[in-house]
Amino acid sequence: MIDSCGRNIDYLRLSVTDLCNYRCRYCMPEEGVCKRTHSEILSLEELEAIARAAVALGITKIRLTGGEPLVRRGIVELCRRLRRIPELQELCLTTNGSLLPDLAAPLREAGVDRLNISLDTLRPERFTQMTCRGELGQVLKGLAAAEEAGFTNLKLNTVLIGGFNDDEISDFVRLTQVHPWEVRFIELMPMGPCAQWDRSCFLPNTTVLRHCPELRPLPARGVARRYRIPGARGTVGLISPLSHEFCADCRRIRVTADGKLKGCLHSREEIDLRGLHGWQLQNAIRLGIAQKPQRHHLTERRSDTPRNMNQIGG
Ligand code: 5AD
Ligand code: SF4
Repeated sequence: MIDSCGRNIDYLRLSVTDLCNYRCRYCMPEEGVCKRTHSEILSLEELEAIARAAVALGITKIRLTGGEPLVRRGIVELCRRLRRIPELQELCLTTNGSLLPDLAAPLREAGVDRLNISLDTLRPERFTQMTCRGELGQVLKGLAAAEEAGFTNLKLNTVLIGGFNDDEISDFVRLTQVHPWEVRFIELMPMGPCAQWDRSCFLPNTTVLRHCPELRPLPARGVARRYRIPGARGTVGLISPLSHEFCADCRRIRVTADGKLKGCLHSREEIDLRGLHGWQLQNAIRLGIAQKPQRHHLTERRSDTPRNMNQIGG
């Protein structure tokens, strides 16, 4: 469906839980989130109904997000059900990777096409410090399990944080020389716990180009600008919501785990999809697409959403 700014909206990010087994400091409050009762979170049936209604309106790509989508019970079954929607071209999932050692193969069998794995540091102590509880080794095992299960075009998502991992830029870029992955640097967005952090934490993605002048531009894909080191197997992506706003190219809508449709990650506007069926559900999604904001206002002020990232879906 075309929105009011002429953008073709064909990509749904569907959050299946706001829980996570990690507590990345920029994303989640350390004390965690109150566990919602079952009934507050969309059931597998509701998630499937929303996906079907969205696909009927022209969505061709769905990405499952969280929190951490793999902590959701029934996630493999959900993937299997969504894969049966005939017009759905791509089913993807963004994960912190920690549960992939067990789940990569079942997800592949269920028909998931692609995985994005979040990884902000390659140093074990730092990793545990940032996630408050995670182990780097587990994520590396998860990456290996994903490759073994037959996932190709793996993408690594690295949030660039000044004073935390900007000394690892070259290490991440070097990964693309050995692996056929896309390593994507994402600018830290001031929302949730990190909204109050010192300005020095928020680095523009041009920092990556300064550290690695050997990167050569490739044609852009989606919201990422892409580069390659000559001869490398993989690529480097820059996702720059702050320094290089991509709202004009944004094709996505989001649904939160509690059933609210959001046209933009950073807007306050939400449309409640719960309890809606059939044409009512379709009409609500149509309205959400029509009302998708033209752009965010992160550069003028902080994010307008009162939600943390885990409550929206990254
Ligand atoms: N800015 C940028 N990316 C973020 N993520 C979570 N919070 C932020 C933020 N404030 C990312 C995670 C993961 C995805 C789910 O969203 O690192 O890659
Ligand atoms: Fe969990 Fe991802 Fe948030 Fe880290 S960034 S706490 S892995 S949802």
